[in-house]
Amino acid sequence: MTDHVTHVTHPLVQHKLTLMRQKDTSTASFRQLLREISQLLAYEVTRGLPMTTRQIETPLQMMDAPVIDGKKLALVSILRAGNGLLDGVLELIPSARVGFVGLYRDEETLEPVQYYFKVPTELDDRLVIAVDPMLATGNSSVAAIDLLKNAGAKNIRFLCLLASPEGIARMKEAHPDVPIITAAIDEKLNEKGYIVPGLGDAGDRMFGTK
Ligand code: URA
Repeated sequence: MTDHVTHVTHPLVQHKLTLMRQKDTSTASFRQLLREISQLLAYEVTRGLPMTTRQIETPLQMMDAPVIDGKKLALVSILRAGNGLLDGVLELIPSARVGFVGLYRDEETLEPVQYYFKVPTELDDRLVIAVDPMLATGNSSVAAIDLLKNAGAKNIRFLCLLASPEGIARMKEAHPDVPIITAAIDEKLNEKGYIVPGLGDAGDRMFGTK
């Protein structure tokens, strides 16, 4: 994967995303749609994985059949909204290892501060897919990728649902080696750091909080 941003324009993804954006969509529907979209995005984010062959026996004969090569990949959820993407991706890649990164924004410095970090071992040998539905300012995404690189990750992809042009630019500047896979690139960030038109607060909408 060489392009920095992959915009997944598949009709199923776009239709489901439109349903998610609507303000009257219920928490249950929002969650279900996110699960469905994350499986479709998982298909894209794993494109081009290295392959090998394994000898198997069909009912008719032996064959060298294709399988994914290398160590089990690692999915890393950026808390808390990342968990909404994680579930669907895990359904498609059930053997993946899973990590979590928790960051909050310091009210004075406005910088992201780590409050939780737990990731699989041998990150340097794995494809690491960091998931967070909203790439808004890019501050927390950049900080999360910094932490993953400090932990040894060398091959990282970033999966989101919506990205702002500002967030993409920030990620490209800080982590040009990390491809971004997104279902939409929206117009801009508003003064409160929300993506517009967007879908509101992804965490609140998927967990039913306010
Ligand atoms: N996080 C969200 O949940 N929504 C936005 O629009 C921006 C950041």
